[in-house]
Amino acid sequence: MTIKVRIGDIRIGREETASVLESLAEGQLSEGRKTKEFEKLWARYIGTKHCVALNSGSSALLAGLHALIHDVRRPKVRPGCRVITSPVTYVATSNAVVLAGMEPVYVDIDSRTFTLDINQVEDVLRRDRKGHALLLPVHLMGYVNDMDALNDLARRYDLAVFEDAAQAHGSLYKGRRAGSLSDLAEYSFYIAHNIQVGEMGAVVTDDEALCRLIRRIKANGRLCDCRVCRRSAGKCPHRGAAFDPRFTHDLIGFNFKTAELHAAIAIPQVGRADAIIRARQHNVRALNAKLEPYAEIFQLPVYSEEVSYLAYPLVIRDPRWSREKIMTALERAGVETRPLFGCIPTQQPAYRSLQQRYEGRLPRADFAGKNGFYIGCHQYLGRADLDCVEEAFRNLVRKGP
Ligand SMILES: Cc1ncc(COP(=O)(O)O)c(C=O)c1O
Repeated sequence: MTIKVRIGDIRIGREETASVLESLAEGQLSEGRKTKEFEKLWARYIGTKHCVALNSGSSALLAGLHALIHDVRRPKVRPGCRVITSPVTYVATSNAVVLAGMEPVYVDIDSRTFTLDINQVEDVLRRDRKGHALLLPVHLMGYVNDMDALNDLARRYDLAVFEDAAQAHGSLYKGRRAGSLSDLAEYSFYIAHNIQVGEMGAVVTDDEALCRLIRRIKANGRLCDCRVCRRSAGKCPHRGAAFDPRFTHDLIGFNFKTAELHAAIAIPQVGRADAIIRARQHNVRALNAKLEPYAEIFQLPVYSEEVSYLAYPLVIRDPRWSREKIMTALERAGVETRPLFGCIPTQQPAYRSLQQRYEGRLPRADFAGKNGFYIGCHQYLGRADLDCVEEAFRNLVRKGP
C-alpha cells in the first residue's frame, strides 16, 4: 500500500520558485538580502525585536546556549551549570545542552500537552538553588508551556529562560506568540515543520546584546556583528582599523550561517503562516471528531485555537494494544506514522549513562515515550485523506488488539 497521508508534505509553489530564482539571478548563495528579509519578517510575525537565521534548529539551540555563556550579565550560565528541560523532545534539545558543556536535568511532563510539570520544576529548584541557571522548555507539537509560571520561577531563582519553539511556529499563549515569551527562543524550519525549508533555524529575542552575540557565534566568532555588511559602502564601524573584522575572531564559534536559497523559500511561507496554522487546526478538529469513538484506546490531542499543530499526536491508553502493531497496520492502510520522541534519559541509547538516575522518576514521560505516536495533520490534507485516516482506524479497531 502506498502512503497517502504523510506526516508532512511539501509543495514548492510559484512564489517560492520566483523567490529562489531571484536569489540565483542575483548570484547570491550565502546570506544576503533574502536572509535579512526573512529575519525581519519572522521577528515581526513572532513579535520580537530581533531574529537571527541559522542553518538548523539544532545550530540555533547551540548558538543560543553559547551566547548565554558569553553574556557577561549572566555569570550563572556557564559550562557545568544545570539546565531544566523536557525529557520528551527531539533529541537535539538535550544534545545542545550537553554539547554546550551543561548538564540537562529532566522533570516529568503533563501527559496531555507534553509540557513541563511546573511543580516538579519548582521542587528541583527548591532542592538545589545554586546549580541551576537555565530553563529550556520545549513547546512540543505546538503546545506552549505555562510560561507565566516558568518566568515567575526564573525571577525567583535568577534563571535565564530559552524556549525551544522548534515545533510551535505561531502558537499563542495569552495572545502572544511562542518564542516571544522569554529571553530567547529557537525555531526549526526542517521539512516536516509548519514553515518548511528543508534545513534552517532561527533564534528570536528582544535582547540586542544576545542577538549580536549569536550573529558572531554563528560566523566562527568573528568580531563584527552588523546585520548587513556595509564595508563596500565605506561604512564599516571598524573602518581605518589595522585589522579586518570579518577575519578577526575574539570568540570561539561555529559556522552556523544559513543559505540564501533557504531563506528565499521561507519568505513566502511566512506570509501564509496563519493560513497554514488554521488549516492544521481544522484537520486536528476533524480528526478528533472522527476518532472520538476510539478515545478509550487512544488519548486524542487536546484541541485549542491557540496551538499551531506540528502533527496529530496520539498516546495508546489501553495496555492490550501494541504500538508497533498499530503503526504497522496504519502504514499498511496508507497512513504514515512516527513514534513520539522516546524519553531521553531512560529510552535514548546515547543517554544510557543517565538511565539509572532517572529510572522510575519520569513515569508520564516514559509512558508517552513508549506509547505515543503521531500522524500528519498538515495543510495539504483534503477530505479524502481525513476519511482515509478514519477508515484506517475503524478497520484497526474492528480487528482488535
Ligand atoms: C523540539 C525540537 N528541537 C530542536 C529541533 C532541531 O531542529 P533541526 O532539525 O532543524 O536541527 C527539532 C527538530 O525537529 C525539534 O523538533
